[in-house]
Amino acid sequence: MNIILLGPPGAGKGTQARVLEERDGMVQLSTGDMLRAAVAAGTEVGQQAKAIMERGDLVTDEVVIGIISDRLEEDDVKGGVIFDGFPRTLAQADALGALLGTKGLKLDAVVEMRCDDSVLVERVVGRFTCGKCGEGYHRSFKKPAKEDVCDKCGSTGGFKQRADDNEESMRTRLLNYYKDTSPLIGYYHAKDTLQTVDGTADIDDVTAQIAKVLS
Ligand code: AP5
Ligand code: MG
Ligand code: ZN
Repeated sequence: MNIILLGPPGAGKGTQARVLEERDGMVQLSTGDMLRAAVAAGTEVGQQAKAIMERGDLVTDEVVIGIISDRLEEDDVKGGVIFDGFPRTLAQADALGALLGTKGLKLDAVVEMRCDDSVLVERVVGRFTCGKCGEGYHRSFKKPAKEDVCDKCGSTGGFKQRADDNEESMRTRLLNYYKDTSPLIGYYHAKDTLQTVDGTADIDDVTAQIAKVLS
């Protein structure tokens, strides 16, 4: 099964993608994670993307479509993919449709994670991740069982925060979501692939809602 998780920053796309990956053996394709890896590695794409991402603006369609196109060449995508944070513009959505078509892959569902803006800022500002395995946490909603120790990989003291997880960048990210990404809700509704879940519910509840709409 190939699905898109669609929602504003902080909606829980990454959190739910990791659950699906572990439970169903699907592969999470997060353009945000791939771009952050490029920034950390100092590649040409990373150098171009760094300031754009810190401000909360969108990286060009050409760059992200290129990243996804390359990634879809790898063998592991055959077991099913979760697109997390891609597509984010109508041009990216059209390009994805064409790419999947040429590779003989089908888009099974687009899950819109609907959320009130009021919860998003708090989620993003309180977020941190494990520097070793990438597991996501929140200082109020998803604390590690033992302080400073990753539940998943057991590493200690390696937690980090994203450069764009502050209120100012978050305002820009939200604006860009409403301007460029939210039109995809109508686009996929018209293609009959849209399912909607309540992303403001707690994490396990959202997981259950997603399982239900995918069944
Ligand atoms: P990206 O990394 O995709 O960031 P984003 O869309 O802003 O989304 P987030 O990762 O912030 O949120 P999420 O929905 O994954 O939430 P999470 O599960 O972590 O993109 C970053 C940047 O890269 C973009 O701004 C852009 O510059 C660039 N970029 C990326 N893709 C691009 C593209 N396609 N085109 C152009 N540019 C692109 O949850 C958030 C927090 O809340 C966590 O702490 C979590 O523990 C907690 N939480 C999650 N669910 C719940 C819940 N139900 N209740 C309570 N807490 C919860
Ligand atoms: Mg994410
Ligand atoms: Zn870890």
